Amino acid sequence: MMINLMTIATVILLFANTSFADPRAQVIKLICGKQTEQNATINVANFISTMEKITLQMQNSGHGAAETGSGRHKSYGFAQCYGDLSPTDCTLCYVEARNILPQCYPSNGGRAYLEGCFIRAENYSFYDEFSGPGDGPVCGNRTRAGPGFDESVRKGLSQVVSVASGNERYGRAEVAVGRAVNESVYVMADCWRTINATACRACLENASASLLGCLPRADGRALNTGCFVQYSDTDFMNSVSNSGSSRGRVIVNVIVAVSGVALFIGGVIIGVYVWKRRIIARKRRDDAEKLVKNLNHSSLNFKYSTLERATVCFDETNKLGQGGFGTVYKGVLADGREIAAKRLFFNNKHRVTDFYNEVNMVSSVEHKNLVRLLGCSCSGPERLLVYEFCSNKSLDAFIFDLDKGKELDWDKRLKIIVGTAEGLVYLHENTSTRIIHRDIKASNILLDSRMRAKIADFGLARSFEKDQSHISTAIAGTLGYMAPEYLAYGQLTEKADVYSFGVLVLEIVSGRRNNEGESPDDTESLLSRAWKQFKQGTVEPLVDHNLMLGLGGRKEEADVMTEMVRVVQIGLVCTQEIPSSRPSMSKALLMLEAKEEPPLPSNPPFMDKETMEFHYSSQGSNDASVATISHTVFLPR
Ligand SMILES: *[C@@H]1O[C@H](CO)[C@@H](O)[C@H](O)[C@H]1NC(C)=O
Ligand SMILES: *[C@@H]1O[C@H](CO)[C@@H](O)[C@H](O)[C@H]1NC(C)=O
Ligand SMILES: *[C@@H]1O[C@H](CO)[C@@H](O)[C@H](O)[C@H]1NC(C)=O
Ligand SMILES: *[C@@H]1O[C@H](CO)[C@@H](O)[C@H](O)[C@H]1NC(C)=O
Ligand SMILES: *[C@@H]1O[C@H](CO)[C@@H](O)[C@H](O)[C@H]1NC(C)=O
Ligand SMILES: *[C@@H]1O[C@H](CO)[C@@H](O)[C@H](O)[C@H]1NC(C)=O
Ligand SMILES: *[C@@H]1O[C@H](CO)[C@@H](O)[C@H](O)[C@H]1NC(C)=O
Ligand SMILES: *[C@@H]1O[C@H](CO)[C@@H](O)[C@H](O)[C@H]1NC(C)=O
Repeated sequence: MMINLMTIATVILLFANTSFADPRAQVIKLICGKQTEQNATINVANFISTMEKITLQMQNSGHGAAETGSGRHKSYGFAQCYGDLSPTDCTLCYVEARNILPQCYPSNGGRAYLEGCFIRAENYSFYDEFSGPGDGPVCGNRTRAGPGFDESVRKGLSQVVSVASGNERYGRAEVAVGRAVNESVYVMADCWRTINATACRACLENASASLLGCLPRADGRALNTGCFVQYSDTDFMNSVSNSGSSRGRVIVNVIVAVSGVALFIGGVIIGVYVWKRRIIARKRRDDAEKLVKNLNHSSLNFKYSTLERATVCFDETNKLGQGGFGTVYKGVLADGREIAAKRLFFNNKHRVTDFYNEVNMVSSVEHKNLVRLLGCSCSGPERLLVYEFCSNKSLDAFIFDLDKGKELDWDKRLKIIVGTAEGLVYLHENTSTRIIHRDIKASNILLDSRMRAKIADFGLARSFEKDQSHISTAIAGTLGYMAPEYLAYGQLTEKADVYSFGVLVLEIVSGRRNNEGESPDDTESLLSRAWKQFKQGTVEPLVDHNLMLGLGGRKEEADVMTEMVRVVQIGLVCTQEIPSSRPSMSKALLMLEAKEEPPLPSNPPFMDKETMEFHYSSQGSNDASVATISHTVFLPR
């Protein structure tokens, strides 16, 4: 009878141990450096390259270190998975960690402790560091009474310290001292592979001493500069590492034998408990695997290696530009299709599932005036968005350039204005989820081989909302285009897009940026000039010289001029201060097509002198830097 019970208990425990692993990619703590980036253009590029080099090492050995660049802009990186993670789980944890670290931007360094791995990047060689001012424990909230538990923790900590100080730099223990079965403690310790044995021991000793301060909490984690130690009353570790013995692990079990039937019952209880936990873990894992499988079969999914090949490993010569979300590269797929691949270096909030769902949603939006999102590389080492390629770049490259501006005559410009309006009507009024673009501006209007307007970068804005880095770039990039109510109160409706569209229309007619005066000391914005001149009935001086040149002597000159005045009027109607007095995009389209008369604009957006956000961009040092950011570093493609 006793033997039978024992067999059952053992079988259950064995089954529990044939483990379904978990990458434990949840963040424990992100610690950012205090110094800020000197030059985002170069530092971000070096950071991405460093992280990429580490990716390969992680897959092979569970840890990796790499450097990129030189001098002050050199980027140093290091990452390590804790010893119980299989290579697959390690890659998953690393991908998450690598996506989280950029939250530190614009700090020039930082580290993240995840439940399953660690990552750090700096602009100096930090590999020897094993202690620092931030070292200390993060204690759990639950308490665990009982002297047996405390003793088990002490014992477990001292065991893992001595094991992990050895060659493998990793130790784990399961300890139960005393009679009660619920006094089992699970402990794990990991030293970073870059520090030597002496430093490792010192780090672990400090960590385990600090963890004793967590008692009587049921769990605690020491986040030290050179090591990570965790104890818990529940088994948090993966019991089987697929990497075999090369990543060696020592399992220490100290079970003080207790006689009597109580042990067997206790054993069964533990067994069932552990087994249940494993079932839950397995379900989670199955879901994750299902997603990866679905991704594999989805036409939206581009394999990372495919995109690497298409862009010749993201070669500098294929770079199209840098947008708020990432860098854009031109690529050619094996079948000859041209694409634009956007590497999202600051996409960190979203887990793969959410990200994929958003891509799925946005890719279903199809219209001739919207840049089609073809898919993503969602599950690879970094996330990429794949767009259709527009060969003639963006509108700003033409209208704000004296020479290239000549290539766009009035007919072409009017077509671009109407096309943009059609794209916006579709986004606002004809998709199952109404989409507010938020960032309509000349550089977001791309031109295809037939010079048709295509609106870029829509739909995903929502998913980047909480992303600090994007918020700042979005604001920097759109100052001249932002509706007063959005700028002042963050009030966002379709009418904010209508406002931006109005600004864009005036820019297209005048060939001038809204936030740049005629001359360097001219602080008057295009918008305020347009209102003034329209009121005076002298729109002509506003019109781009390039357009007037093309007009010379043509007999329909008068007609074209009337058309221009009409379009300027529509632009002004769209930029009225009060959102409700601006037309909807479909109304604006009817006016552009001359199917409806535009009303007289009566409500200019300059009512409140205090919030005259429109005049500032060409004056003052602060504004100069804003303009620089929007035109160089974050120039959206
Ligand atoms: C940043 O680095 C890039 C590339 O080296 C360089 O072209 C640019 O001038 C630098 N910007 C600043 C502000 O130093
Ligand atoms: C790291 O960056 C900071 C701030 O940008 C700079 O002061 C420091 O000199 C850099 N360190 C190295 C080793 O280049
Ligand atoms: C181990 O590393 C520490 C910190 O870098 C260093 O001070 C110490 O000399 C090293 N010890 C040995 C034996 O190499
Ligand atoms: C633990 O306590 C901290 C601080 O009081 C709190 O922010 C956190 O939500 C708590 N966690 C849980 C799981 O209750
Ligand atoms: C661990 O090291 C840190 C940093 O050197 C120090 O502040 C802390 O007091 C040490 N903790 C213990 C328990 O020795
Ligand atoms: C996805 O496809 C690749 C290559 O086609 C294959 O190696 C991989 O095992 C697949 N993954 C899954 C989860 O099916
Ligand atoms: C919505 O789009 C469909 C197809 O793209 C088109 O047939 C339909 O007329 C559109 N409806 C409106 C209200 O624009
Ligand atoms: C637009 O792109 C097409 C195809 O790439 C090219 O033939 C044409 O010259 C371009 N137009 C302009 C104005 O650059």
